This record gives sequence, structure tokens and C-alpha cells, in this order.
Amino acid sequence: ARAPLVLGIESSCDETGVAIVRGQELIGNAVASSLEEHARFGGVIPEIASRAHLEAMVPMIDEACDQAGVALADLDAIAVTSGPGLAGALLVGVAAAKSLAFALDKPLYGINHLVAHVGVDVLEHGTLPMPMVALLVSGGHTNLLLVRDICSDVVSLGQTIDDAAGEAYDKVARLLDLPYPGGPHIDRLAAEGDPRAIRFPRGLTSGRDMQRHRYDFSFSGLKTAVARWVETRRAAGEEIPVADVAASFQEAVVDVLTRKAVLACQEHGATDLLVGGGVAANKRLRTLAEERCTAAGITVRVPRPGLCTDNGAMVAALGAQLVMAGAEPSPLDLATDSSMPI
Ligand code: KG4
Ligand code: ZN
Repeated sequence: ARAPLVLGIESSCDETGVAIVRGQELIGNAVASSLEEHARFGGVIPEIASRAHLEAMVPMIDEACDQAGVALADLDAIAVTSGPGLAGALLVGVAAAKSLAFALDKPLYGINHLVAHVGVDVLEHGTLPMPMVALLVSGGHTNLLLVRDICSDVVSLGQTIDDAAGEAYDKVARLLDLPYPGGPHIDRLAAEGDPRAIRFPRGLTSGRDMQRHRYDFSFSGLKTAVARWVETRRAAGEEIPVADVAASFQEAVVDVLTRKAVLACQEHGATDLLVGGGVAANKRLRTLAEERCTAAGITVRVPRPGLCTDNGAMVAALGAQLVMAGAEPSPLDLATDSSMPI
């Protein structure tokens, strides 16, 4: 069978992404971000994100088609993120996708954003080995998934019970007077610091906490510990060793992320670990994941940075896999679900 030509739309947070794939090949990928409009607020403002999606949606659809050299009429299917994410932001993408599907008389596929973060890897490394474990870390999510079949069998092993990993980076960065988003700044500063300078807590890793939350994460206690450490020294008029704080905080985050991800692989017979989401760009996370996975005989798959952050390619890629698997399309009254489960 001919590889299906699928257009994917992503608008769950602050990126308006539209992409076109032909089977497992990415042929057009347009992304507009409203990140800069949110920067002065130190976090994503839903109203601003929705308006930015409205303005960017049609230009991004046009650009993706131009890049791919295809006309809308050539498409075999339309895929769109229908959750989880910001309710108003999701609505813009879903309305656009429904309009296209209706006007072109093509099947519509509602896509789970988290599963799409996994499915995107076919564009980078080809067909996914099964079963695999996925660690998704961004400003909005921190999830461990067990994937036995990307189209029909993805289960949630655990997630954060408070802040997302990227959110913790952003909050600690703010504490250290670094610009938003703070993840890349902490990453850079940490390279010059000593990760063993300060022993910050590893949430949900021992005793009853670990028993009850084997694959869950918690970063709010860590954030509070960093805040207390910094404030105590500031109050005493001491200089803050910013690089050491960044390195020690980062070590606490990536230690827990990689430890639980490797454990999940071992306990579920997964030979591959996929790491996705914006925080997958983190150098220390990549190094430690490589180190610990290699020691355990597990292969790490990390898509290139542009495919780790939110984009339309991940939606189109998963849509194409659903088409190829013969999955049932979604109805044209497809609803958004801001807290969609896996
Ligand atoms: O996936 P993403 O672009 O957007 C969503 O949150 O959905 O992820 C953004 C998050 C931000 O919290 C940012 O600080 C973090 O990813 N981030 C990083 C790095 N690059 C981005 N965190 C740690 N190290 C990095 N190099
Ligand atoms: Zn995401």
C-alpha cells in the first residue's frame, strides 16, 4: 500500500504546529510559538496562547503544504491533538482540523498529545521497538508510559504528583534570577558547578513513598528545598554559588528521572527507553540516561530537539501510524479533553 499522506495539527500549549508526513517520512513541518508573548509573565497565559493559535493556524497550514509541495486535496487524513492541554488552545486546532476534514471529505483522527510525543520517534529512528518505556518531560508533563503498541496499547506507569520537571527548572531559575524559560540556563550554568555541592532531596524514591509511588515523581519538595537554601544564605548576606545550586538541583531531578525510567524498563521487559519533551534537550539528563541505560543493557532513543518540543510532526506521525494500522477515524464532532487520560 502507498504510504498515507497525513497532515497533523498541534495546539495544546504555546506552539502552533502543522506538519505533513508521508508514512514515516516528514515532508513539511511548520511551527509558530507564542513563547515570547508569555515570557514577561513567567509562564504560559492560556488566553494569549489561544489568540496566537488563531492568528498562526492558517499561515502554518499553508507553510506546511508549501514545504511538502502538496495540495490539501492530496491528503489522505487529518490528525489533531484533542488532549490533554489548555482547553481554549486545543479548541483552535480541533476546529481547524474538523473544518479541513469536512471540506476535503477526509478522515479525522483525534490524537493524545502524550502518545504523539512517543510516536514522533518513527520520523527519527524508524519503527518503534516494542515493548518500550517512554519518559516524557516538559514544562507541562512528566510521565512514564509503557508502550506495547503505539496505536492501541499505551498505559501510564506514573506521572508527577505536583510540578512538571520543566516547571521545576523554570521555578528554580526564577529563584536564581534567570530568564524564562529557565531550563536551558540551568543546564548551561550547571555544567560549571559541582552536582555534589548540596544534597537536595530526591522525591518519592524511598520507604513508603516509593512503595506507593513507584513510578511517580514529585518536584515541589525539591523546589522548596532549593528556595529555603538560597533564602537562608541571602538573608545572611552570603553570596549564592549559583552554578553549584543549579548543578545540585539538576542532579536531583535527573537522578530521579533516570532511576525510575530504568527501573520501569527492567520491570516491564522493555529494551528501549524513549525520552521526549522539552527537557529531553537537557545535557545532563541525556548523559545520565545513556550511562544508566547502557549499564542495564537498554537502548536510549531521543528524537532531535525540534521533534522533542511540541510540534505538528508528532501528531501527523501518530496519525499516519493509525491510518496504516487501519484504526477507526474519529467522528466529526470530536471533543477536546484538556485532562485526557492515556
Ligand atoms: O516541550 P516544551 O517545549 O513545552 C512544553 O512545556 O510543553 O518544554 C518546555 C520546558 C520548559 O520548562 C523549559 O525550561 C524546559 O522544557 N527545557 C529544559 C531545557 N530546554 C528546555 N529544561 C532543562 N534543560 C534544558 N536544556
Ligand atoms: Zn508536549
